[in-house]
Amino acid sequence: MLEHLRCPRCRGPLSQGPSFPDGSGLLLCACETAYPVLVGVPILVPEPALYLHQHRDAVLATLAEQGLATPEAVRLVLDFAAACPGGEPLRFGDDWVHDEASWPEPTEGAPEALLSLLEQAQGAPERAIEELLGGPHDLVAELGCGSGLLTTRLRARHGTVLACDLSLRAVLRAGPPGLVLDAEALPLAELDALVAANLIDLLDEPEAFLDEALERASRVVLSSPEPELLDGADASRHAVPWVRPHGPSEWQIYLLSVARFERRPA
Ligand SMILES: C[S@@+](CC[C@H](N)C(=O)[O-])C[C@H]1O[C@@H](n2cnc3c(N)ncnc32)[C@H](O)[C@@H]1O
Repeated sequence: MLEHLRCPRCRGPLSQGPSFPDGSGLLLCACETAYPVLVGVPILVPEPALYLHQHRDAVLATLAEQGLATPEAVRLVLDFAAACPGGEPLRFGDDWVHDEASWPEPTEGAPEALLSLLEQAQGAPERAIEELLGGPHDLVAELGCGSGLLTTRLRARHGTVLACDLSLRAVLRAGPPGLVLDAEALPLAELDALVAANLIDLLDEPEAFLDEALERASRVVLSSPEPELLDGADASRHAVPWVRPHGPSEWQIYLLSVARFERRPA
């Protein structure tokens, strides 16, 4: 995977530093930044010490839950976190990583119209994204992979799909290959395509993100419940129902825009 990665600070290539049998170790950049790799997952955010300081407990809990709290991985987390004293611990988007693989059965007696909408909506965003993505492509990055549902579908069609998220739990749940990154400092080299479902509306600078994404990939497919963020897409665009189950009697329904962007020839 190393040839597809770049330093999120200076965009330089990365080299393998010390490594351990559990897949943990360091990636090194000529700009003198070292990035930890935890049980095979590179943490390629611009400030890795700050990230592991702020998310230390969530990262350690994630490793423990997954049975991956090896002495080497735990040592790396603690060493990086200790190199950055101060600052408030933060949570990352773990609430998006629950098991959404099966929908709850709607409460008995739910109206027909609701049942029919739920049936139509199930998988609709994923189908729209897959259609606009085309392919199959050799190398795709999915940013903000969340629960990993889309990742699994993409992996059935495309060669290599990198599962990327700010949350280590999301990356581990999606399975390898994957990395922890900040979509606003993309540590990726050239790809065939890039997908980000329901991420752009969470970013501070969505326009800058899109420019960066098109520098890495000639085709970018995005979805968002905020259609204006997808202005400038090519003519291929869908609006589909997006339903988020929160239990057998609570469902949130959005109208989701899904759009494709193509890199313009220089
Ligand atoms: C709204 S959820 C969408 C998850 C999934 N793509 C879906 O559609 O169900 C956003 C995801 O993006 C991740 N995320 C938030 N900010 C991010 C950032 N700056 N870089 C990378 N991932 C980020 C969160 O951890 C979360 O998994």
